[in-house]
Amino acid sequence: MQFHLSEEHLMIRQAARDFAQNDCLPGVIERDEKQQFPKEQIKKLGELGFMGMMVDPKYGGAGMDTISYVLAMEEISKVDASVSVCMSVNNSLVCWGLEKFGSEEQKQQYLVPLAKGEKIGAFLLSEPEAGSDATSQRTIAEDKGDHYLLNGTKNWITNGSSAEIYLVMAQTDVAKGSKGINAFIVEKSWPGVTVGPKENKMGIRGSDTHSIMFQDVRVPKENRIGEDGFGFKFAMKTLAGGRIGIAAQALGIASGSYELALKYSKERKAFGKEIMQHQAIQFKLADMATRVEAARLLCLKAAWEKDNGLDYTLSSSMAKVYASETAMWASTEAVQVHGGYGYVKEYHVERLMRDAKITQIYEGTSEVQRIVISRGILQ
Ligand code: CAA
Repeated sequence: MQFHLSEEHLMIRQAARDFAQNDCLPGVIERDEKQQFPKEQIKKLGELGFMGMMVDPKYGGAGMDTISYVLAMEEISKVDASVSVCMSVNNSLVCWGLEKFGSEEQKQQYLVPLAKGEKIGAFLLSEPEAGSDATSQRTIAEDKGDHYLLNGTKNWITNGSSAEIYLVMAQTDVAKGSKGINAFIVEKSWPGVTVGPKENKMGIRGSDTHSIMFQDVRVPKENRIGEDGFGFKFAMKTLAGGRIGIAAQALGIASGSYELALKYSKERKAFGKEIMQHQAIQFKLADMATRVEAARLLCLKAAWEKDNGLDYTLSSSMAKVYASETAMWASTEAVQVHGGYGYVKEYHVERLMRDAKITQIYEGTSEVQRIVISRGILQ
């Protein structure tokens, strides 16, 4: 067993760290306040090869492994989780799903621009009445011979307005339950597609979250992904990898919180000495460092399993539930270490605390992760 990172991994982590400091940190507070999509940052991520990190270079990707992806996600999420969620959805939900299950034509037409960062993708599973209970899809794709007719509404869609390419899950045969669900590639520009207003969120306010409505949208047959009825399994398999990305995002929020708390504790004085000299603060920092390291190891293990062709369903859910709960806890502690300063925007930790919350909700709530983990350990 080896615990050290390769030279290549260290270089990728450094590149992500430099990008986070030089390109994400400036303006992060303003983007959060104004709910401004980080357009320039996403463009630069594309140039760095980080929008299709794990995609084969023959499809325009950077051909890196999942460990690299975790390292990059952590560094970027330390600074701006609105940037990293866009990156995560594009990489693990959209590019991975297309590369793994798409046809050659679908890859040439859709994966290549997504992997190069020329276009952004979104993953449309959640609905007003189908969140955790993902089999209860109400969006219908009616088989019309050479095309499907798509009708319905999707909710909470990350990259909802910035994406040009949507992967949409819909029922094609209600009687078949989860086996009557299919996944389709839909272009935002097609007639009948409407993007709803931007959600006014607690955290990750720079990312664009929207409802998407479909009214009599003609989807060519060749835009269905995989065999008829494969859509639910497609979504579940894709989400298992997506959960590694969100776990790494949560890890970054946790480690960013820890680093800011550590820095502040060396600067701030109280009762005649730096607050890091007080055991009350030392114990908080010790616990933060320990839990961050545990979350990092879980993320890297899940990534390693994925890179080595093993089943990572259990480990990705374990990484996500632990890292997201650590992010919520560590960011709250970081605010506490900062005292009153932690409650104002300039010190960043209040934003990290708001951003942390969503990691316990999207790509499967903590409760869903526990369902997946229970099934894994009890089978
Ligand atoms: N891999 C492969 N197949 C899987 C699977 C997996 N990980 N999980 C389930 N399946 C299969 C099952 O084997 C089953 O197939 P068979 O009928 O052939 O046996 C089929 O899928 C149905 O599975 P279940 O009976 O287990 O389904 P369920 O209704 O009990 O649901 C659940 C299980 C785990 C709760 C699931 O619904 C789930 O994960 N829900 C959460 C959905 C989610 O994460 N949504 C996030 C939205 S995307 C998002 O947030 C993106 C973003 O914008 C940031």
